[in-house]
Amino acid sequence: MHETIAIAGATGNLGPAIISALLSQTTHTITILTRTGTLTASIPSHPRLTIAHITSYTEHATLVPALRGHTVLLSLLPDHGAQPALFDAAMEAGVRRIVPSEFGVDVAGNIHVRALPVFRAGKAVTQTYLKAKAAEDKLSYVLICTGAFLDWGIETGFVATLPGSNEVVREGKCKIYDGGEYERSMTTLADIGRAVVGVLEKWEELRNGAVYVQSCAASQMELLRIAEAKGTRVEVEAVDLESLEKKCYQAVEGDGSEDQAKVEEAMFGFVTVGCWKRGMGTFWGERHDSELLGVKQMTRKELEEVVGRYV
Ligand SMILES: NC(=O)c1ccc[n+]([C@@H]2O[C@H](COP(=O)([O-])OP(=O)(O)OC[C@H]3O[C@@H](n4cnc5c(N)ncnc54)[C@H](OP(=O)(O)O)[C@@H]3O)[C@@H](O)[C@H]2O)c1
Repeated sequence: MHETIAIAGATGNLGPAIISALLSQTTHTITILTRTGTLTASIPSHPRLTIAHITSYTEHATLVPALRGHTVLLSLLPDHGAQPALFDAAMEAGVRRIVPSEFGVDVAGNIHVRALPVFRAGKAVTQTYLKAKAAEDKLSYVLICTGAFLDWGIETGFVATLPGSNEVVREGKCKIYDGGEYERSMTTLADIGRAVVGVLEKWEELRNGAVYVQSCAASQMELLRIAEAKGTRVEVEAVDLESLEKKCYQAVEGDGSEDQAKVEEAMFGFVTVGCWKRGMGTFWGERHDSELLGVKQMTRKELEEVVGRYV
């Protein structure tokens, strides 16, 4: 079925991979919503793609006209808790299908992850909103849980800091969480693009629920061993997640006068805890929807190739 898809927040890290998958694997038409002033050099020119400038993702005056005529809204916004305002505008414009900005840990299905302040105030708020609107039959939605982004996570050091990681982290040691030997579900940017295509194809089957996708399950130490087998020496810094979690709670539980930079650092710490701590939400085991969505599991050789890009 031909869709007209509006994407909010496509000029960031994930957007280009999703645009590329939608343009190469479907015949859908795409509108990129972007705030006036943002550089759009990462957006390709294509006859099926247009750019609509808006003032913000909350003000209806420019949002509603830009959203009118679309069948699907895909959100990639980093400010997860602010999404209900965008979705209100989508409903006002007649958009009935929503893919919210998830693409990470299992906030919907894991109560420990959901309780972490960063998710409680962000993705959980949006999920509660979507559930309520779906119950009133005002929209339908699908949450896409991907675990950590594998290639982007090595590029930025979130998954593993290797010599080819970007400038900011290259000098740093590779943080290894709780010994780093347990597997985590991870997905490449390209496979997330494929998963989005799959979700749109199977919408009626998946509507009002969550899907779990991975390119592979791997441990941090496994990635390091692959890098080391290619002749790279990686300096490691052991991180204890229980202590990190405690420190993060201390930074946010105060009288409201806490240092904002420390609060932001703590929020990022909670993301790390949610992703890597045992019992939290990023290992799907055998229960994932990758095949259904057209995402193949990586072979060992393919995983070595991804790691090899950063050694
Ligand atoms: N699992 C993982 O490892 C992982 C890693 C990274 C991200 N994620 C998730 O993937 C989704 C997409 O993330 P992303 O990294 O692509 O997002 P991003 O690059 O941080 O932001 C995407 C776009 O959102 C718009 N935007 C709106 N409000 C913003 C704000 N307050 N600050 C910055 N940008 C703002 C900007 O677009 P305009 O200027 O064009 O409006 C920006 O280019 C999010 O849900 C994120 O949490 C997961």
